[in-house]
Amino acid sequence: MNRHDVRSRILEKRFLAPRHVWMRLECDWDPARVQPGQFLHLWLPELRDPLLRRPYTIYRIRPGEVEILFQVVGKGSGLLAEREPGERVHLLGPLGRGFALPEPGTRALIVGGGVGMASLFLLIQRLREQEFEVEVFIGARSRDYLLCRDEAAESGALVWLATEDGSEGFAGLVTELVAQRLERNPPERAVLYGCGPTPMMEALAKVGAAHRLPTYVALENRMGCALGVCLGCVVPIRREGTSRYERVCTEGPVFEAAQVCWGFRI
Ligand SMILES: Cc1cc2nc3c(=O)[nH]c(=O)nc-3n(C[C@H](O)[C@H](O)[C@H](O)COP(=O)(O)OP(=O)(O)OC[C@H]3O[C@@H](n4cnc5c(N)ncnc54)[C@H](O)[C@@H]3O)c2cc1C
Ligand code: FES
Repeated sequence: MNRHDVRSRILEKRFLAPRHVWMRLECDWDPARVQPGQFLHLWLPELRDPLLRRPYTIYRIRPGEVEILFQVVGKGSGLLAEREPGERVHLLGPLGRGFALPEPGTRALIVGGGVGMASLFLLIQRLREQEFEVEVFIGARSRDYLLCRDEAAESGALVWLATEDGSEGFAGLVTELVAQRLERNPPERAVLYGCGPTPMMEALAKVGAAHRLPTYVALENRMGCALGVCLGCVVPIRREGTSRYERVCTEGPVFEAAQVCWGFRI
């Protein structure tokens, strides 16, 4: 789908957890042509500080509307969180290359850390629509930050929870839970998909390599233009024995985890 610049309005807004906001926005993109993991670049009109747009993954999409789920981390997300239904936002998208669905018969293990679940829900939905067996591993610092658990369960996926403080589910890191699951009952054919903080994705890459599973991650680097021009978002990627920089906004945000030269800083 070609990218479109949409003059949109906020239709609905809710806080799902402290500093975590869900928004429903007007948008006329064709849902069938949006890949899971693609993102939009959002601008608050008339605002000169921050001047740059901010990237958010398309969490859900239906005819006439798109949903995002974001964490307030700084100025742009803070100002967006203060906007109310009826106020205007501009959306550029859908952008980037998203997740590809696996071969039929493959079990999908989907691993989200915190607000990283926002990048994975559309993937869960598409996989379940095509009757894939899906297991979703949701990790967070504590139970209040476990996002999308009901939506994932309603889709028919098997849901596993991990909290760092042990307030719900497995006590520890979500990647430790995935490793434990794979060691106890290795699936015959599976693929790992993940999104979350960079150290979590690096840990997931190691779990995938240890179990020889193809592993795909959605990176969330800082971005400038999101159009492939400024090179502000590059990451080192190793392909066919050589490494080179690739743009998260156009070659990504989804990459094969084994090809990412981890240790880069965002
Ligand atoms: C393709 C893509 C999809 C994304 N999808 C989502 C999403 O669905 N939900 C969501 O909550 N966030 C998502 N992000 C991250 C989001 O874009 C940033 O949190 C946002 O741009 C921060 O803007 P700000 O003005 O609030 O923060 P700033 O004021 O610019 O920065 C505040 C602090 O946040 C840190 N920061 C800024 N950007 C990032 C980043 N990308 N990753 C980690 N730390 C950062 C800065 O280093 C700084 O410490 C995505 C990023 C990308 C590239
Ligand atoms: S953000 Fe400008 S090239 Fe990726």
